[in-house]
Amino acid sequence: MHRPILIVPSILSANLGCLQQEIDSVEGAADWLQIDVMDGHFVPNLSFGVPVLKCLRTRIPLDVHLMVANPEDRIEEFLELKVKHITFHAETVHESDGRRALIQAIRDGKATAGIALKPGTPVEEIDDVVDDVDLVLIMSVEPGFGGQAFLPDVLEKVRLLRSRFPSLMIQMDGGINDNTAAQCIAAGADNLVAGSFVFAAADRKAAIASLRTV
Ligand code: DX5
Repeated sequence: MHRPILIVPSILSANLGCLQQEIDSVEGAADWLQIDVMDGHFVPNLSFGVPVLKCLRTRIPLDVHLMVANPEDRIEEFLELKVKHITFHAETVHESDGRRALIQAIRDGKATAGIALKPGTPVEEIDDVVDDVDLVLIMSVEPGFGGQAFLPDVLEKVRLLRSRFPSLMIQMDGGINDNTAAQCIAAGADNLVAGSFVFAAADRKAAIASLRTV
């Protein structure tokens, strides 16, 4: 099933000292905007959360990527901000019942729900809930930092997932640029997160367009 390719800039790589202007620079080109929420426990880095989001003004749908332990404790505050999408990591919720409850809570809050896999976590890990989610995020770097090198071994996970679930939205995140994006799309991804490639570019809209047309 052919879908349009969504391009999702990650603000982790933006100049956080002028974040509103950075977001304005991708308005009208980005399909979603990814908010990388890191707690310094599930991943070594600490990033930002609701206090920062409350200061931002944008029409771009917000895609919250929870890289946090106990994501069930965090979703209400983001749902109150009317975010479009929330993804949690399979490695932070191990029980099927817990995963399903979290997916339902996100949907009850009028957002779509996604589950993410670190590079080393096999696709089979989410067999219990892959039919329940709106999106699966296949990380192509170890979560925690922008600007890392793309890990091509994860492409096999994307191919496997796409072969089993033709209509599933598959997002990839980490080291996405005008070279790796083509590999991701060929493997079956239809939603690409890009941080440093977009925000390092002088012309962000052109950078986003280049990822869509690879
Ligand atoms: C890493 C984050 C990614 C990262 C992407 O933990 O989840 O979204 O910001 O940055 P680049 O595109 O520079 O790899």
